[in-house]
Amino acid sequence: MKNILITGGAGFIGCHVVKLFVEKYPNYHIINLDLLTYAGNLENLSAIEHSENYTFIKGDICDRGLIKEIFKKYAIEAVIHLAAESHVDRSITNPFEFANTNIMGTLTLLNQAKESWKNNFEDKLFYHISTDEVFGSLGDEGFFLEDTPYDPKSPYSASKASSDHFVRAYQNTYGLPAIITNCSNNYGPNQFPEKLIPLFINNIKNNKPLPVYGEGLNIRDWLFVEDHARAIDVVFHKGTIGDTYNIGGFNEWKNIDLIKVICKVMDTKLGREEGTSEKLITYVTDRAGHDMRYAIDSTKLKDNLGWEPSLQFEEGIEKTISWYLDNEAWLHNIVTGDYKDYYKKQYAAD
Ligand code: NAD
Ligand code: DAU
Repeated sequence: MKNILITGGAGFIGCHVVKLFVEKYPNYHIINLDLLTYAGNLENLSAIEHSENYTFIKGDICDRGLIKEIFKKYAIEAVIHLAAESHVDRSITNPFEFANTNIMGTLTLLNQAKESWKNNFEDKLFYHISTDEVFGSLGDEGFFLEDTPYDPKSPYSASKASSDHFVRAYQNTYGLPAIITNCSNNYGPNQFPEKLIPLFINNIKNNKPLPVYGEGLNIRDWLFVEDHARAIDVVFHKGTIGDTYNIGGFNEWKNIDLIKVICKVMDTKLGREEGTSEKLITYVTDRAGHDMRYAIDSTKLKDNLGWEPSLQFEEGIEKTISWYLDNEAWLHNIVTGDYKDYYKKQYAAD
């Protein structure tokens, strides 16, 4: 058995990574450490929660004593680190929480990995999941490459950039075997409905206004979450230690165009007259410091490790909308906060 610590496995991307690894690799013991903040939801993992090669631990990546205990008890050999505060708007109102979780949490994990592995770094890996937002904002032309200088512009991206720097510092100073990937915007099942796509799906369903920031002209590069999980699998197994890889879908959308696609698909699926959902579009005050454009060049990952997105966007967005409409209870539980009861029932604890 190889013992792998995955952090943030009850969140959006984390749950897809945990499911993939637990199901695909019965010879790996997956230890999922998640604090179950508002963004963590164990319902996301009900399909594998009783698997023999899976253990869930509720806890904080900043808790040094707990991290030390986990490394020792489970003889951790690799870390896939996803736990983070991830929503830009929340970072604008509460930057300290982002610095604490994203920087101090990452540092806590790095330091314990160094301490536990220092006598033998062979076959060990600290894999840090990061974002394209560390590169800042693009103009009309060009893409983020692996060597694009860091230029984070929101408290969220500044905290992620800082955590990336700590990973490289541990690699350079102590020889910790590490890999970083920087991914573009993910979409798909299980995303918390505060992010653009699930929020708008939920609002359309409930005939609520669709709050478009500014003029809706900002551009994001969207990747289906299961393709990100597959990329993580590929990099984990085939990536070069010390290297960094960009992950993206070459799939840029202006927000307003993307929103109109969502409206159209929702009208069809809900049997509403075409144009009904678009009427809900409401332009609101722009996000402070709103990055204009992200676009990832993931050629290195394709050329070196053979990864490519498997889904075309039209198929991905259709699949995503169907998932939210078919999983009404999941959405209802999130919106009402009832999903927190799941943990209490499941683990008889708070
Ligand atoms: P998410 O907010 O959906 O999930 C984060 C998870 O981390 C939650 O389950 C939460 O409970 C857990 N968590 C938060 N603080 C914790 C702590 N102190 N200790 C333990 N667990 C804690 O986030 P996501 O969208 O799944 O993003 C996962 C990772 O991928 C993040 O590091 C994020 O920066 C990165 N990323 C996200 C995207 C995206 O589009 N969502 C794109 C690129 C990179
Ligand atoms: O690029 C990767 C990043 O993508 C990740 O690192 C972050 O964790 C993830 O949250 C995401 O950040 P964004 O800020 O790009 O995602 P969000 O879904 O919040 O917003 C997408 C775009 O939609 C952005 O231009 C802001 C706009 N928006 C968002 C919301 C929530 C609106 O116009 N209205 C909204 O209500």
